[in-house]
Amino acid sequence: MKITIDGPVASGKTAVGRALARRIPARFLDTGMMYRAITWASIQQQINFDNQDALAELTKTLNIEVILEDGEQILKVDGTDITDELRDPDVELNVSKISQVGSVRHELVSQQRAIASTGDIVMVGRDIGTVVIPEADLKIYLDASIQIRAKRRHDEMRRKGHRIDLENLVEEIKTRDNMDSNRKDSPLMSAKDAVIINTDRLRIDQVVNLILESIQKS
Ligand code: DC
Repeated sequence: MKITIDGPVASGKTAVGRALARRIPARFLDTGMMYRAITWASIQQQINFDNQDALAELTKTLNIEVILEDGEQILKVDGTDITDELRDPDVELNVSKISQVGSVRHELVSQQRAIASTGDIVMVGRDIGTVVIPEADLKIYLDASIQIRAKRRHDEMRRKGHRIDLENLVEEIKTRDNMDSNRKDSPLMSAKDAVIINTDRLRIDQVVNLILESIQKS
């Protein structure tokens, strides 16, 4: 069974996907972390974001490992755990820019397809139902209002010790939504046959239950 969950920034995809994978049970992959890893590495290596060739080379050669430990996704680059760094404000600010680069997407999509092909999986991202595994058994599109999404991300960042103004975050999320939805290469959109769920008034377990009901019906 392959299930895709797409949706905008902080719509609840990761929390829902992880909990759903545990219930099925299936593997879980949050593809956003892969785009974040490339962004983190390009900042570390001071690669100019306009240098498409250097970004393509980085994506091909970077040794990314995605590991599940107790249901939590850990990402290692060259053996070093950089999971916490992937939420750094400078990664947050630049990841939508990096994920517009066609060659970066092309390489990561092929890595994601290879992971999906080896068994049951819940895969979360922006283009999973539309581009990565359009043949999936069930496609979900999660949405929520901008205010709720900003509040969720704000709470999450505060828990991790980052101080950020809520209104700034609303603006940042709007900018990222805009870039993710309007990019040329596989923009964020719901697949035609996706089940659309608005998570504004739903807890994670309620969304998971709705998806489990959809699995039973499909
Ligand atoms: O879900 P997230 O916030 O961790 O995603 C980080 C960025 O990566 C987001 O701005 C869009 C991009 N992304 C993408 O383009 N395609 C995916 N499948 C997953 C994420």
